[in-house]
Amino acid sequence: MMIHLKNLSKTYEGRSGTHDALRDVTLHIERGDVFGIIGQSGAGKSTLVRCINLLERPTSGSVVIDGVDVTVYEGKDLRVLRSKIGMIFQGFSLFQQRDVLGNVTFPLELRGVSKADARARARDLLSLVGLADKADFYPSQLSGGQQQRVAIARALANDPKILLCDEATSALDTLTTHAILGLLRDINEQLGVTVVVITHSLSVARQVCNKVAVVDRGRLAEAGFVEDVLAAPRSEAARLLVEADGVIGFRHADSPVIAKKAV
Ligand SMILES: Nc1ncnc2c1ncn2[C@@H]1O[C@H](COP(=O)(O)OP(=O)(O)OP(=O)(O)O)[C@@H](O)[C@H]1O
Ligand SMILES: [Mg+2]
Repeated sequence: MMIHLKNLSKTYEGRSGTHDALRDVTLHIERGDVFGIIGQSGAGKSTLVRCINLLERPTSGSVVIDGVDVTVYEGKDLRVLRSKIGMIFQGFSLFQQRDVLGNVTFPLELRGVSKADARARARDLLSLVGLADKADFYPSQLSGGQQQRVAIARALANDPKILLCDEATSALDTLTTHAILGLLRDINEQLGVTVVVITHSLSVARQVCNKVAVVDRGRLAEAGFVEDVLAAPRSEAARLLVEADGVIGFRHADSPVIAKKAV
């Protein structure tokens, strides 16, 4: 067991009242999974994933990582935990005033790694993501796919065990998405990083995930192997997602799972 979310609930308190964003969610993500989180907009996907690194504090329930309850971590414990969990977003969130190398060395500098070591490590990571020749470019000089590669390199700087991806490919075209998903899979297979992928796209889930969870209005509707959930959804929420995806149909053409079944 790697990530165990136990009876997780999250209620946001706002001026206009309270909102139950997560309701009693229990989920196991195993070491080495590429785990997809799918569901409609507002279902609670980002909230769920932000609870894993405690960017969001659950209202009740617990987050257990490698058998250790981290729910109440603060201070140094929390910093160490977060350094073991990388995160990337749709908007890349790079430092515009730093060049590519400076973006990747940043988390290492925070941790007090020497400048020379940080730069050497950052160059290795840039090679890994295929950007060795862009070290002294600034984010504004890069394409969206290249910026996401920098964000991935930066997220890997501290050797995380877990990589959280919140709509990381939503801003990218199909081919660039395919390349970034390939990179995530390589990271998963070669570095043994457990990857959690939030996506709106079932095509993305099929391309990269081995398992998926469907979140519906804050509840876990179902979870299982991606081919089972998407081919034979048991919950109404999953069925609706699959049906809506079928209407957009063409996406099935590039799905390895569907292609295999068609043969
Ligand atoms: N900081 C906050 N304060 C109050 N309500 C919030 C906050 N963050 C999220 N919510 C609410 O919680 C619910 C779940 O939000 P969340 O961002 O987790 O959804 P999501 O599944 O990631 O949606 P999307 O696919 O649009 O990104 C939404 O109704 C949202 O309005
Ligand atoms: Mg979200």
